[in-house]
Amino acid sequence: MTVNDSLMVLGVLAAAAAGLWAWRRWHPASFWYGVAFPARAVLVYLTWHHIASGCKLTRHRQRWRLTLDAVPAAGLVVRGAAGIVEHKRRMRRVDVERAPRLGLLRPTAQGWRVRLRLHDGQVPADYERAAEGIAHAWRVHSVRVVDVRPGLVTLWATMRDPLTEVTVTPATGELLRVRPGKLENGQDWVMDLRTVPHWLNAGATQSGKSNLANAIIAGLAPQPVALVGFDLKGGVEFTPYAPRLSALATTRKECVGLLDDLVGEVEARMAVCRRHGARNVWRLPESLRPVPIVVLIDEVAELFLMADKAEKDEVAKTGTALLRVAQLGRAFAVHLIVCGQRIGSDLGPGVTALRSQLSGRVCHRGNDPETANMTLGDMDPAALDAARAIPAETPGVAVVAGQDGSWHRARSVYLSEETAEQAARDHAHLTPAWDIVIGSVPTTRPPLPEAA
Ligand SMILES: Nc1ncnc2c1ncn2[C@@H]1O[C@H](COP(=O)(O)OP(=O)(O)OP(=O)(O)O)[C@@H](O)[C@H]1O
Ligand SMILES: [Mg+2]
Repeated sequence: MTVNDSLMVLGVLAAAAAGLWAWRRWHPASFWYGVAFPARAVLVYLTWHHIASGCKLTRHRQRWRLTLDAVPAAGLVVRGAAGIVEHKRRMRRVDVERAPRLGLLRPTAQGWRVRLRLHDGQVPADYERAAEGIAHAWRVHSVRVVDVRPGLVTLWATMRDPLTEVTVTPATGELLRVRPGKLENGQDWVMDLRTVPHWLNAGATQSGKSNLANAIIAGLAPQPVALVGFDLKGGVEFTPYAPRLSALATTRKECVGLLDDLVGEVEARMAVCRRHGARNVWRLPESLRPVPIVVLIDEVAELFLMADKAEKDEVAKTGTALLRVAQLGRAFAVHLIVCGQRIGSDLGPGVTALRSQLSGRVCHRGNDPETANMTLGDMDPAALDAARAIPAETPGVAVVAGQDGSWHRARSVYLSEETAEQAARDHAHLTPAWDIVIGSVPTTRPPLPEAA
Protein backbone atom coordinates (compact mmCIF):
# COMPACT_ATOMS: atom_id res chain seq x y z
CA MET A 1 0.00 0.00 0.00
CA THR A 2 1.41 3.35 -1.00
CA VAL A 3 1.47 6.42 1.21
CA ASN A 4 -1.28 7.91 -0.94
CA ASP A 5 -3.52 4.88 -0.40
CA SER A 6 -2.98 5.04 3.36
CA LEU A 7 -3.83 8.72 3.40
CA MET A 8 -6.98 8.04 1.42
CA VAL A 9 -8.10 5.30 3.83
CA LEU A 10 -7.41 7.58 6.78
CA GLY A 11 -9.36 10.38 5.09
CA VAL A 12 -12.36 8.11 4.44
CA LEU A 13 -12.32 6.88 8.05
CA ALA A 14 -12.10 10.44 9.38
CA ALA A 15 -14.97 11.56 7.11
CA ALA A 16 -17.09 8.57 8.27
CA ALA A 17 -16.37 9.35 11.93
CA ALA A 18 -17.21 13.04 11.40
CA GLY A 19 -20.42 12.05 9.58
CA LEU A 20 -21.47 9.74 12.42
CA TRP A 21 -20.67 12.43 14.98
CA ALA A 22 -22.72 15.00 13.06
CA TRP A 23 -25.60 12.52 12.63
CA ARG A 24 -25.61 11.80 16.35
CA ARG A 25 -25.31 15.49 17.20
CA TRP A 26 -28.09 16.77 14.93
CA HIS A 27 -30.49 13.86 14.74
CA PRO A 28 -29.97 11.70 17.82
CA ALA A 29 -33.26 9.82 17.41
CA SER A 30 -32.52 8.41 13.94
CA PHE A 31 -28.87 7.81 14.97
CA TRP A 32 -30.09 5.72 17.87
CA TYR A 33 -32.40 3.56 15.76
CA GLY A 34 -30.05 3.38 12.74
CA VAL A 35 -26.62 2.93 14.29
CA ALA A 36 -26.35 2.87 18.07
CA PHE A 37 -29.19 0.44 18.80
CA PRO A 38 -28.13 -2.23 16.23
CA ALA A 39 -24.56 -2.05 17.59
CA ARG A 40 -25.85 -2.39 21.16
CA ALA A 41 -28.10 -5.29 20.15
CA VAL A 42 -25.18 -7.22 18.65
CA LEU A 43 -23.19 -6.67 21.85
CA VAL A 44 -26.10 -7.77 24.05
CA TYR A 45 -26.53 -11.04 22.12
CA LEU A 46 -22.79 -11.74 21.99
CA THR A 47 -22.26 -11.18 25.71
CA TRP A 48 -25.56 -12.54 27.05
CA HIS A 49 -24.26 -15.97 27.98
CA HIS A 50 -21.40 -14.46 29.90
CA ILE A 51 -23.61 -11.89 31.67
CA ALA A 52 -26.29 -14.45 32.57
CA SER A 53 -23.60 -16.66 34.03
CA GLY A 54 -22.15 -13.76 36.04
CA CYS A 55 -25.63 -12.87 37.35
CA LYS A 56 -26.33 -16.52 38.24
CA LEU A 57 -29.21 -16.90 35.84
CA THR A 58 -27.81 -19.89 33.99
CA ARG A 59 -28.70 -23.54 34.53
CA HIS A 60 -26.68 -26.68 34.01
CA ARG A 61 -28.17 -29.10 31.54
CA GLN A 62 -27.09 -32.44 30.12
CA ARG A 63 -26.70 -32.33 26.36
CA TRP A 64 -25.51 -34.82 23.75
CA ARG A 65 -22.25 -33.56 22.28
CA LEU A 66 -19.70 -34.98 19.87
CA THR A 67 -16.55 -35.02 21.98
CA LEU A 68 -12.97 -35.66 21.11
CA ASP A 69 -11.45 -38.19 23.52
CA ALA A 70 -7.87 -39.18 23.84
CA VAL A 71 -7.86 -42.96 24.40
CA PRO A 72 -4.81 -45.17 24.79
CA ALA A 73 -4.39 -47.21 21.62
CA ALA A 74 -4.93 -50.93 22.21
CA GLY A 75 -1.79 -52.97 22.75
CA LEU A 76 0.41 -49.96 23.13
CA VAL A 77 0.01 -49.36 26.81
CA VAL A 78 3.30 -49.97 28.47
CA ARG A 79 3.31 -50.55 32.21
CA GLY A 80 4.24 -47.36 34.07
CA ALA A 81 4.58 -45.24 30.95
CA ALA A 82 2.10 -43.32 28.86
CA GLY A 83 1.15 -45.18 25.76
CA ILE A 84 0.69 -43.65 22.37
CA VAL A 85 -2.77 -42.20 22.24
CA GLU A 86 -5.29 -42.17 19.50
CA HIS A 87 -8.02 -39.51 19.16
CA LYS A 88 -11.52 -40.79 18.85
CA ARG A 89 -14.81 -38.91 18.28
CA ARG A 90 -17.73 -40.01 20.45
CA MET A 91 -21.28 -38.85 21.19
CA ARG A 92 -21.71 -38.49 24.92
CA ARG A 93 -23.82 -36.54 27.40
CA VAL A 94 -21.97 -33.59 28.83
CA ASP A 95 -22.82 -30.87 31.32
CA VAL A 96 -23.44 -27.49 29.61
CA GLU A 97 -24.35 -24.12 31.07
CA ARG A 98 -27.44 -22.62 29.44
CA ALA A 99 -28.42 -18.95 29.63
CA PRO A 100 -32.14 -18.06 29.61
CA ARG A 101 -33.28 -17.66 26.01
CA LEU A 102 -33.21 -14.02 24.94
CA GLY A 103 -36.04 -12.94 22.62
CA LEU A 104 -35.94 -10.20 20.05
CA LEU A 105 -34.41 -6.95 21.29
CA ARG A 106 -36.86 -4.13 20.56
CA PRO A 107 -35.68 -0.54 20.62
CA THR A 108 -37.46 2.11 22.68
CA ALA A 109 -36.76 5.84 22.65
CA GLN A 110 -34.63 5.50 25.77
CA GLY A 111 -33.19 2.00 25.43
CA TRP A 112 -34.67 -1.37 24.64
CA ARG A 113 -36.84 -4.15 25.92
CA VAL A 114 -36.43 -7.85 25.51
CA ARG A 115 -38.42 -10.87 26.54
CA LEU A 116 -36.78 -13.80 28.31
CA ARG A 117 -37.89 -17.35 28.81
CA LEU A 118 -37.42 -18.43 32.42
CA HIS A 119 -35.62 -21.64 33.19
CA ASP A 120 -37.61 -24.21 35.10
CA GLY A 121 -37.63 -23.29 38.77
CA GLN A 122 -36.85 -19.61 38.18
CA VAL A 123 -39.18 -16.81 39.27
CA PRO A 124 -39.34 -13.14 38.20
CA ALA A 125 -37.77 -12.18 41.56
CA ASP A 126 -34.53 -13.87 40.41
CA TYR A 127 -34.40 -11.39 37.55
CA GLU A 128 -35.28 -8.45 39.80
CA ARG A 129 -32.31 -9.39 41.96
CA ALA A 130 -30.08 -9.65 38.91
CA ALA A 131 -31.36 -6.45 37.28
CA GLU A 132 -28.73 -4.17 38.79
CA GLY A 133 -25.91 -6.48 37.67
CA ILE A 134 -27.34 -6.67 34.17
CA ALA A 135 -27.64 -2.87 34.06
CA HIS A 136 -23.95 -2.51 34.92
CA ALA A 137 -22.96 -5.15 32.37
CA TRP A 138 -25.04 -3.46 29.66
CA ARG A 139 -23.71 -0.02 30.74
CA VAL A 140 -27.21 1.41 31.07
CA HIS A 141 -28.90 3.54 33.72
CA SER A 142 -31.34 0.86 34.83
CA VAL A 143 -32.92 -2.46 33.97
CA ARG A 144 -36.43 -3.21 35.20
CA VAL A 145 -38.48 -6.38 35.12
CA VAL A 146 -41.85 -5.60 33.57
CA ASP A 147 -44.72 -7.47 32.02
CA VAL A 148 -44.44 -10.79 33.83
CA ARG A 149 -46.28 -13.67 32.15
CA PRO A 150 -46.21 -17.36 32.94
CA GLY A 151 -42.71 -18.53 32.06
CA LEU A 152 -41.71 -15.16 30.59
CA VAL A 153 -40.40 -11.83 31.80
CA THR A 154 -39.57 -8.67 29.91
CA LEU A 155 -36.47 -6.68 30.78
CA TRP A 156 -36.69 -2.95 30.13
CA ALA A 157 -33.31 -1.24 29.79
CA THR A 158 -33.09 2.55 30.05
CA MET A 159 -29.86 4.15 28.80
CA ARG A 160 -29.93 7.33 30.88
CA ASP A 161 -32.22 8.75 33.51
CA PRO A 162 -35.04 10.42 31.55
CA LEU A 163 -36.12 12.15 34.71
CA THR A 164 -33.24 14.61 34.89
CA GLU A 165 -35.15 17.00 32.64
CA VAL A 166 -38.89 16.76 32.17
CA THR A 167 -40.71 18.85 29.62
CA VAL A 168 -44.35 17.98 29.00
CA THR A 169 -47.59 19.92 28.79
CA PRO A 170 -50.01 18.85 31.52
CA ALA A 171 -53.15 19.42 29.42
CA THR A 172 -54.16 16.39 27.31
CA GLY A 173 -57.39 17.69 25.79
CA GLU A 174 -59.28 14.69 27.18
CA LEU A 175 -61.76 14.97 30.02
CA LEU A 176 -60.26 14.16 33.44
CA ARG A 177 -56.96 13.10 31.92
CA VAL A 178 -53.80 15.05 32.76
CA ARG A 179 -50.15 14.57 31.93
CA PRO A 180 -48.30 15.76 35.03
CA GLY A 181 -44.84 14.48 34.04
CA LYS A 182 -42.75 11.68 32.60
CA LEU A 183 -42.21 8.06 33.53
CA GLU A 184 -38.80 6.49 33.81
CA ASN A 185 -39.33 4.48 30.64
CA GLY A 186 -39.59 7.72 28.69
CA GLN A 187 -43.37 7.59 28.28
CA ASP A 188 -45.67 10.33 29.43
CA TRP A 189 -47.08 9.98 32.90
CA VAL A 190 -50.82 10.17 32.37
CA MET A 191 -53.29 10.35 35.26
CA ASP A 192 -56.75 9.33 34.16
CA LEU A 193 -59.22 10.09 36.92
CA ARG A 194 -61.90 8.05 35.20
CA THR A 195 -59.75 4.94 35.52
CA VAL A 196 -58.18 5.73 38.89
CA PRO A 197 -60.60 8.16 40.58
CA HIS A 198 -58.74 9.12 43.74
CA TRP A 199 -55.04 9.72 44.36
CA LEU A 200 -52.78 9.91 47.37
CA ASN A 201 -49.76 12.17 46.88
CA ALA A 202 -47.31 11.69 49.77
CA GLY A 203 -43.80 12.82 50.55
CA ALA A 204 -41.57 14.77 52.92
CA THR A 205 -41.53 18.53 52.94
CA GLN A 206 -39.94 19.99 49.77
CA SER A 207 -40.30 16.68 47.94
CA GLY A 208 -42.54 18.08 45.20
CA LYS A 209 -46.11 17.40 46.35
CA SER A 210 -47.41 20.90 45.69
CA ASN A 211 -45.64 21.04 42.35
CA LEU A 212 -47.52 17.92 41.32
CA ALA A 213 -50.76 19.45 42.54
CA ASN A 214 -49.93 22.55 40.42
CA ALA A 215 -49.35 20.37 37.36
CA ILE A 216 -52.69 18.65 37.93
CA ILE A 217 -54.44 22.02 38.28
CA ALA A 218 -52.73 23.28 35.12
CA GLY A 219 -53.82 20.13 33.25
CA LEU A 220 -57.42 20.31 34.46
CA ALA A 221 -57.81 24.10 34.14
CA PRO A 222 -58.78 24.06 30.42
CA GLN A 223 -61.39 21.32 31.00
CA PRO A 224 -65.07 21.62 31.92
CA VAL A 225 -64.52 20.54 35.52
CA ALA A 226 -65.03 22.18 38.90
CA LEU A 227 -61.85 22.43 40.98
CA VAL A 228 -62.10 22.64 44.74
CA GLY A 229 -59.20 23.33 47.12
CA PHE A 230 -58.67 22.50 50.80
CA ASP A 231 -55.65 24.32 52.04
CA LEU A 232 -55.22 24.51 55.78
CA LYS A 233 -51.78 26.05 55.43
CA GLY A 234 -53.63 29.36 55.48
CA GLY A 235 -54.31 29.18 51.76
CA VAL A 236 -50.71 29.83 50.73
CA GLU A 237 -50.59 26.88 48.35
CA PHE A 238 -53.89 27.22 46.51
CA THR A 239 -54.83 30.91 46.79
CA PRO A 240 -52.85 31.76 43.60
CA TYR A 241 -55.20 29.47 41.64
CA ALA A 242 -58.34 30.96 43.17
CA PRO A 243 -59.63 32.30 39.81
CA ARG A 244 -60.00 28.72 38.56
CA LEU A 245 -61.24 27.23 41.85
CA SER A 246 -64.97 26.93 42.36
CA ALA A 247 -64.44 26.78 46.11
CA LEU A 248 -61.49 27.11 48.47
CA ALA A 249 -61.48 26.28 52.18
CA THR A 250 -58.61 27.63 54.26
CA THR A 251 -59.97 27.29 57.81
CA ARG A 252 -61.38 24.28 59.59
CA LYS A 253 -64.82 25.86 59.67
CA GLU A 254 -64.76 26.38 55.92
CA CYS A 255 -63.55 22.79 55.46
CA VAL A 256 -66.49 21.41 57.42
CA GLY A 257 -68.91 23.52 55.37
CA LEU A 258 -67.33 22.57 52.06
CA LEU A 259 -67.28 18.87 52.92
CA ASP A 260 -70.95 19.08 53.85
CA ASP A 261 -71.63 20.59 50.43
CA LEU A 262 -69.67 17.81 48.77
CA VAL A 263 -71.46 15.03 50.65
CA GLY A 264 -74.79 16.68 49.81
CA GLU A 265 -73.82 16.91 46.14
CA VAL A 266 -72.72 13.26 46.00
CA GLU A 267 -76.04 12.24 47.55
CA ALA A 268 -77.97 14.40 45.07
CA ARG A 269 -76.08 12.83 42.17
CA MET A 270 -76.80 9.41 43.62
CA ALA A 271 -80.51 10.22 43.72
CA VAL A 272 -80.50 11.44 40.09
CA CYS A 273 -78.73 8.27 38.97
CA ARG A 274 -81.21 6.11 40.90
CA ARG A 275 -84.14 7.91 39.28
CA HIS A 276 -82.73 7.27 35.82
CA GLY A 277 -81.56 3.74 36.48
CA ALA A 278 -77.93 4.71 35.86
CA ARG A 279 -75.07 3.10 37.77
CA ASN A 280 -72.90 6.16 37.47
CA VAL A 281 -73.12 9.71 36.15
CA TRP A 282 -71.52 8.72 32.83
CA ARG A 283 -74.62 6.68 32.00
CA LEU A 284 -76.95 9.61 32.54
CA PRO A 285 -78.38 11.49 29.55
CA GLU A 286 -75.98 14.25 28.56
CA SER A 287 -78.29 17.05 29.63
CA LEU A 288 -78.45 15.65 33.16
CA ARG A 289 -74.81 14.77 33.50
CA PRO A 290 -73.28 16.88 36.29
CA VAL A 291 -69.96 18.63 36.06
CA PRO A 292 -67.06 16.53 37.43
CA ILE A 293 -65.57 17.86 40.65
CA VAL A 294 -61.88 17.44 41.46
CA VAL A 295 -61.07 18.08 45.12
CA LEU A 296 -57.44 18.91 45.94
CA ILE A 297 -56.37 18.68 49.58
CA ASP A 298 -52.96 20.02 50.54
CA GLU A 299 -51.53 18.65 53.80
CA VAL A 300 -54.35 16.36 54.81
CA ALA A 301 -52.92 15.93 58.35
CA GLU A 302 -54.06 19.48 59.12
CA LEU A 303 -57.66 18.32 58.68
CA PHE A 304 -57.21 15.74 61.40
CA LEU A 305 -55.14 17.70 63.92
CA MET A 306 -56.92 19.04 66.94
CA ALA A 307 -55.64 21.69 69.28
CA ASP A 308 -58.06 20.83 72.07
CA LYS A 309 -60.93 18.52 72.96
CA ALA A 310 -63.46 21.06 71.65
CA GLU A 311 -62.31 20.32 68.11
CA LYS A 312 -62.76 16.59 68.49
CA ASP A 313 -66.28 16.51 67.08
CA GLU A 314 -65.32 18.72 64.17
CA VAL A 315 -62.35 16.49 63.31
CA ALA A 316 -64.48 13.35 63.54
CA LYS A 317 -67.07 14.96 61.28
CA THR A 318 -64.42 15.99 58.77
CA GLY A 319 -62.96 12.48 58.69
CA THR A 320 -66.34 10.84 58.16
CA ALA A 321 -67.34 13.29 55.44
CA LEU A 322 -64.05 12.82 53.60
CA LEU A 323 -64.41 9.07 53.77
CA ARG A 324 -67.96 9.27 52.40
CA VAL A 325 -66.84 11.46 49.52
CA ALA A 326 -64.06 8.98 48.76
CA GLN A 327 -66.30 5.93 48.96
CA LEU A 328 -69.19 7.29 46.95
CA GLY A 329 -67.48 9.89 44.78
CA ARG A 330 -65.98 7.57 42.19
CA ALA A 331 -69.29 6.71 40.55
CA PHE A 332 -70.53 10.28 40.75
CA ALA A 333 -67.58 12.13 39.24
CA VAL A 334 -66.22 13.53 42.49
CA HIS A 335 -62.48 12.91 42.62
CA LEU A 336 -59.98 13.37 45.43
CA ILE A 337 -56.30 14.26 45.19
CA VAL A 338 -54.99 14.07 48.75
CA CYS A 339 -51.51 15.43 49.47
CA GLY A 340 -49.72 14.91 52.76
CA GLN A 341 -46.42 14.19 54.44
CA ARG A 342 -47.81 11.01 55.89
CA ILE A 343 -51.25 9.60 56.12
CA GLY A 344 -51.27 6.90 58.76
CA SER A 345 -53.53 5.60 61.47
CA ASP A 346 -51.78 7.93 63.97
CA LEU A 347 -53.80 10.81 62.47
CA GLY A 348 -57.02 9.39 63.78
CA PRO A 349 -59.77 6.89 63.20
CA GLY A 350 -60.97 6.56 59.62
CA VAL A 351 -57.65 7.60 58.08
CA THR A 352 -56.68 4.05 57.14
CA ALA A 353 -60.10 3.53 55.57
CA LEU A 354 -59.68 6.79 53.63
CA ARG A 355 -56.25 5.71 52.45
CA SER A 356 -57.58 2.42 51.16
CA GLN A 357 -60.04 4.35 49.00
CA LEU A 358 -57.25 6.31 47.33
CA SER A 359 -56.23 3.71 44.80
CA GLY A 360 -53.76 5.88 42.87
CA ARG A 361 -50.52 6.35 44.79
CA VAL A 362 -47.68 8.80 44.32
CA CYS A 363 -44.80 8.44 46.77
CA HIS A 364 -42.27 11.26 46.71
CA ARG A 365 -39.10 11.23 48.80
CA GLY A 366 -39.96 10.47 52.42
CA ASN A 367 -38.29 11.28 55.70
CA ASP A 368 -38.58 7.73 56.95
CA PRO A 369 -39.11 4.28 55.45
CA GLU A 370 -42.62 4.35 56.88
CA THR A 371 -43.78 6.93 54.30
CA ALA A 372 -43.08 4.49 51.46
CA ASN A 373 -44.74 1.64 53.39
CA MET A 374 -47.81 3.72 54.05
CA THR A 375 -48.14 5.02 50.54
CA LEU A 376 -47.23 2.00 48.48
CA GLY A 377 -48.55 -0.54 50.99
CA ASP A 378 -48.02 -4.11 50.03
CA MET A 379 -46.67 -3.42 46.57
CA ASP A 380 -43.65 -5.07 45.06
CA PRO A 381 -40.74 -4.56 47.54
CA ALA A 382 -38.70 -3.16 44.64
CA ALA A 383 -41.16 -0.23 44.45
CA LEU A 384 -40.59 0.53 48.13
CA ASP A 385 -36.83 0.35 47.65
CA ALA A 386 -37.08 2.70 44.67
CA ALA A 387 -39.15 5.16 46.72
CA ARG A 388 -36.70 5.06 49.62
CA ALA A 389 -33.80 5.68 47.26
CA ILE A 390 -35.17 8.98 45.86
CA PRO A 391 -32.47 11.56 46.56
CA ALA A 392 -33.25 14.98 48.04
CA GLU A 393 -31.64 16.78 45.11
CA THR A 394 -34.31 15.62 42.66
CA PRO A 395 -37.60 17.05 43.98
CA GLY A 396 -40.59 15.94 41.99
CA VAL A 397 -39.28 12.38 41.50
CA ALA A 398 -41.78 9.84 42.81
CA VAL A 399 -42.85 6.24 42.59
CA VAL A 400 -46.27 6.05 40.98
CA ALA A 401 -48.60 3.11 41.34
CA GLY A 402 -51.94 2.71 39.65
CA GLN A 403 -54.71 0.22 40.09
CA ASP A 404 -53.22 -2.64 38.12
CA GLY A 405 -50.31 -3.18 40.53
CA SER A 406 -47.67 -1.91 38.14
CA TRP A 407 -45.40 0.88 39.32
CA HIS A 408 -43.04 3.40 37.75
CA ARG A 409 -40.49 5.97 38.77
CA ALA A 410 -41.73 9.27 37.49
CA ARG A 411 -41.13 12.99 37.81
CA SER A 412 -43.60 15.81 37.61
CA VAL A 413 -42.91 18.65 35.22
CA TYR A 414 -41.61 21.70 37.02
CA LEU A 415 -44.23 24.43 36.96
CA SER A 416 -43.28 27.78 38.29
CA GLU A 417 -45.96 29.42 40.40
CA GLU A 418 -46.34 32.12 37.74
CA THR A 419 -47.10 29.52 35.03
CA ALA A 420 -49.72 27.79 37.15
CA GLU A 421 -51.24 31.13 38.17
CA GLN A 422 -51.33 32.21 34.54
CA ALA A 423 -53.10 28.93 33.58
CA ALA A 424 -55.66 29.60 36.34
CA ARG A 425 -56.21 33.19 35.13
CA ASP A 426 -56.41 32.17 31.46
CA HIS A 427 -59.14 29.64 32.18
CA ALA A 428 -60.96 31.55 34.89
CA HIS A 429 -63.97 31.88 32.59
CA LEU A 430 -64.42 28.08 32.75
CA THR A 431 -64.86 28.13 36.53
CA PRO A 432 -68.35 26.96 37.41
CA ALA A 433 -69.79 28.87 40.38
CA TRP A 434 -69.96 26.63 43.45
CA ASP A 435 -73.64 27.44 43.99
CA ILE A 436 -74.41 26.21 40.52
CA VAL A 437 -72.31 23.07 40.97
CA ILE A 438 -74.09 22.07 44.15
CA GLY A 439 -77.42 23.55 43.07
CA SER A 440 -77.69 20.94 40.30
CA VAL A 441 -78.63 23.23 37.46
CA PRO A 442 -77.74 21.06 34.48
CA THR A 443 -78.79 23.46 31.72
CA THR A 444 -76.10 26.03 32.51
CA ARG A 445 -73.29 23.52 32.31
CA PRO A 446 -71.10 22.86 29.31
CA PRO A 447 -72.01 19.52 27.71
CA LEU A 448 -69.70 16.67 28.58
CA PRO A 449 -68.57 13.95 26.21
CA GLU A 450 -69.95 10.43 26.31
CA ALA A 451 -68.22 7.90 28.54
CA ALA A 452 -65.68 5.77 26.70
N1 LIG B 1 -40.70 18.24 39.25
C1 LIG B 1 -39.86 19.15 39.73
N2 LIG B 1 -38.77 19.50 39.03
C2 LIG B 1 -37.89 20.40 39.53
N3 LIG B 1 -38.02 21.00 40.73
C3 LIG B 1 -39.07 20.68 41.47
C4 LIG B 1 -40.05 19.74 41.02
N4 LIG B 1 -41.00 19.62 41.97
C5 LIG B 1 -40.62 20.45 42.96
N5 LIG B 1 -39.48 21.08 42.66
C6 LIG B 1 -38.75 22.03 43.52
O1 LIG B 1 -38.85 21.63 44.85
C7 LIG B 1 -39.37 22.65 45.67
C8 LIG B 1 -40.35 22.08 46.65
O2 LIG B 1 -41.46 21.58 45.97
P1 LIG B 1 -42.91 21.61 46.60
O3 LIG B 1 -43.22 22.94 47.15
O4 LIG B 1 -43.82 21.05 45.57
O5 LIG B 1 -42.69 20.60 47.78
P2 LIG B 1 -43.76 20.11 48.84
O6 LIG B 1 -43.59 18.65 48.95
O7 LIG B 1 -45.10 20.64 48.53
O8 LIG B 1 -43.20 20.78 50.17
P3 LIG B 1 -44.04 21.28 51.44
O9 LIG B 1 -44.42 20.04 52.19
O10 LIG B 1 -43.04 22.10 52.16
O11 LIG B 1 -45.21 22.05 50.95
C9 LIG B 1 -40.03 23.64 44.73
O12 LIG B 1 -39.81 24.94 45.12
C10 LIG B 1 -39.37 23.40 43.41
O13 LIG B 1 -38.33 24.34 43.21
MG1 LIG C 1 -46.50 21.81 49.54
